[in-house]
Amino acid sequence: MPENSKKIDIEYKKTCDCQDNHINCLDAKEWVKNQVAVWEFFYEKRDVRDKNIHPAVFPIALPKKCIELFTQKGELVLDSFAGIGTTLIAAQDLERNAVGFDLNKKYIDYIKKRMAQNRLDLGRKTKQLAICGDAINIPKYLEKETISLCVTSPPYAIMLNHKRLNKSIRGNLRENKYFNKIQQYSNNPRDLGTMKLKEYTEALAEIYKGILPLLKPKAHCVININDLWENNHRYPTHSYIIEAMDKVGYEFRNIIIWDKRDLVNKVGIYGWPSNYITLSTTFEYILDFWKP
Ligand SMILES: C[S@@+](CC[C@H](N)C(=O)[O-])C[C@H]1O[C@@H](n2cnc3c(N)ncnc32)[C@H](O)[C@@H]1O
Repeated sequence: MPENSKKIDIEYKKTCDCQDNHINCLDAKEWVKNQVAVWEFFYEKRDVRDKNIHPAVFPIALPKKCIELFTQKGELVLDSFAGIGTTLIAAQDLERNAVGFDLNKKYIDYIKKRMAQNRLDLGRKTKQLAICGDAINIPKYLEKETISLCVTSPPYAIMLNHKRLNKSIRGNLRENKYFNKIQQYSNNPRDLGTMKLKEYTEALAEIYKGILPLLKPKAHCVININDLWENNHRYPTHSYIIEAMDKVGYEFRNIIIWDKRDLVNKVGIYGWPSNYITLSTTFEYILDFWKP
């Protein structure tokens, strides 16, 4: 679809009988379980862990948990940096409508194949669409106050501009063709993965500023992110994002730690005995904002 086309035709109203003032379809017992601020996810067969297909995919379980927490059936979910469409798969499983944007056509083509394979129940009435384009153009495609949840994992600034050590991959797979090499999403100057931190934070804030009017009041906006380490300095990307989101009108609500210890290989010693550095591969941030 061309970037200047008219709004897309997609449903956004709830189709379940849950009460209107409830933010999800969970019962009280499930709600209590979700109050824990440390989340752990397990990969399933449908998860794509091949870095040749995409270098940074989150597990289906991550957007699934957010969708269950922040939407009701039939509502609309947005993933502004969709990659290979993990959020769209989760939305399809949970009978939510969804739209995903990605700059890279290769990933959008992959999503289309992936979605076709995932369509287990043809009777479902929801739609999941993948659009190739810059996330800055999202307001051209969606109507105001239609989105119930925006959940995404944006590029982690120039994080991929480092040689891959593949610490989160087990066994022989670790020494794949990217081991010790740089693997970027693209060289497109609008790709947030090519930007230095300041430019990155500004570009991200500009994109979210455009998304804000599209969200329903009190709709949640979830960002999965990690900090940057460069030349023995920690750059707290997560706090720059919190600040930037506040400036463009979002209210910061929750910080969740994605516990990734289970995914980390045996590791060597870093910094011993004088320079204590925690392994950034052992956790990531899940930042939760809402539209006040
Ligand atoms: C961390 S990945 C998302 C992966 C996704 N969560 C998944 O599981 O497949 C970030 C994505 O943002 C895309 N991207 C970078 N800059 C963009 C922009 N300005 N607009 C839209 N997508 C962009 C990249 O192509 C990349 O696929």
